[in-house]
Amino acid sequence: MEMRSPMKIMMVSSEAFPLAKAGGLGDVVSALAQALCRSGHDVRLLLPRYRGLTTATQGVVTAPLCVDLGERRYCCAVTETRLPDPQGTHEVPVYLLEYNELFDRSGIYGETAAHWFPDNPLRFAVLSRAAAILCRTINWIPDVFHSHDWPTALVSVYHRLFEAEGPLAGTGLVLSIHNLGYQGHAPLHDLSLLGIPSEQIAISGLHSGDGLNLLQGGISCAHQVVTVSPRYAREIAEPQFGFGLDPLIRARNSHVTGIINGIDYDVWDPGSDPLIPYHYDVENIAGKQRNRQLLQMEMGLLPSLSPTVIGMVSRLTGQKGLYELCDPQHGILERMLETLPIQVVVLGTGEADIEACLLQKAERYPNLAVRIGYEERLAHLIEAGSDLFLMPSRYEPCGLNQMYSLRYGTVPVVTRVGGLADTVEPYDALHDTGTGFCIEGTSPWLIFDAVEAAVTLRHDNPATFARMRARGMQQRFPWEASAHAYTEIYRRAALDDTRVSRLSSPPR
Ligand code: ADP
Ligand code: GLC
Repeated sequence: MEMRSPMKIMMVSSEAFPLAKAGGLGDVVSALAQALCRSGHDVRLLLPRYRGLTTATQGVVTAPLCVDLGERRYCCAVTETRLPDPQGTHEVPVYLLEYNELFDRSGIYGETAAHWFPDNPLRFAVLSRAAAILCRTINWIPDVFHSHDWPTALVSVYHRLFEAEGPLAGTGLVLSIHNLGYQGHAPLHDLSLLGIPSEQIAISGLHSGDGLNLLQGGISCAHQVVTVSPRYAREIAEPQFGFGLDPLIRARNSHVTGIINGIDYDVWDPGSDPLIPYHYDVENIAGKQRNRQLLQMEMGLLPSLSPTVIGMVSRLTGQKGLYELCDPQHGILERMLETLPIQVVVLGTGEADIEACLLQKAERYPNLAVRIGYEERLAHLIEAGSDLFLMPSRYEPCGLNQMYSLRYGTVPVVTRVGGLADTVEPYDALHDTGTGFCIEGTSPWLIFDAVEAAVTLRHDNPATFARMRARGMQQRFPWEASAHAYTEIYRRAALDDTRVSRLSSPPR
């Protein structure tokens, strides 16, 4: 791919696969960093050193790095490791910020997927403030800081307040929104704890209602904002998907761009995936049937060919359409399990009520198997061994599993929102086109209708179903294209000619 001069990019993130991952954010940060590195950019990553992150490090980067926030000083160790690269030629350097009181805990954001450490704003504020201090200390001056979601949104805020002069003054600020549903709220009195002078609160963009909103501050202060699909960029400008920030998104409209995530084909390739026992490809699909049988056996389902195996791998939250599935009033899941020739496999962890509902139903229905937990290997086996993949999300900024599913020949059934709509082409019987099935609205019954349509096609018209599956397997979402689009945004941020005027007033 054509490349202009290489850039220096400092990514700051709370997750990066395989070092730390709670969801798609971890996959995306690492894959994007690696794609940028392969195109010749000098990209580095700053990540907390969480408990259990026992990767080999290449020693200490600097003397303790001290971050002053409010009255307190946090002196952190910084060590360096690398993101593993299968070819070993483009390993992204990762700086690990170590401060045990904040990061040596049993979880990234909380002890379980549904728990939240009350001092999360402070934990990630220290990480965010450390980014600029580290760059100055090692004298590596990036062209851009790229931060991700609320945990590192403060990178842009701190930059605006404290780095307007000095070596980093020309550094551009890019913030990716992976999920507007999580904004990082803190009480107003945390302002000094986070090291924001109260007279600067207007410039910081953090003030929201009677508290602080970290993501709002980041969106206000970043030079460029990216969402993880083009459609999501349009959706969050509307009240339905804006979670209260839609007016700000509209105000910053000319600085908001949607770039679809890619997927990492080194990790997600059914032809070579080390986490699945039988490899296969579009030319030779036999291995998929074997994985399917293995999945059925592992999950205690009848190893039969005829039922349609429907997989779900998901955080068990309202975002992912689980309330609709579990809602006792509609009984959609029961209805599916009772009336359709299906077996459903769910892997996930999240809200206690949803977990309990799924486990209860699994006891009652022999064609439902539920595993509560986070298991990388099983996630790959479900992708490989299912016929359909269900994602009835209420909203979905991008979604990765539908793209993994396409690659693994597992036909996605998805709500027509956000990145799901941007990546899954609905089946069109007339023209024999499309790669999946779309749930066309918010009523829970529409989930049932879409699943029924997919199951019916597989049973009544297997040849048409197989053609659709093959179309999906041949589709690619390469990171190279998305990384290229990001570099254009980085350039815009680094050259931002509104910076001088914006320094005196927030762009709201
Ligand atoms: P989100 O980031 O909103 O959770 P995505 O579809 O972008 O949704 O990404 C989810 C990622 O997390 C995928 O890689 C998926 O396989 C993985 N994942 C989610 N839940 C689990 C789980 N319980 N076990 C293993 N992997 C999971
Ligand atoms: C978020 C979104 C998901 C997206 C992921 C990676 O967690 O919920 O849709 O794919 O981030 O960008």
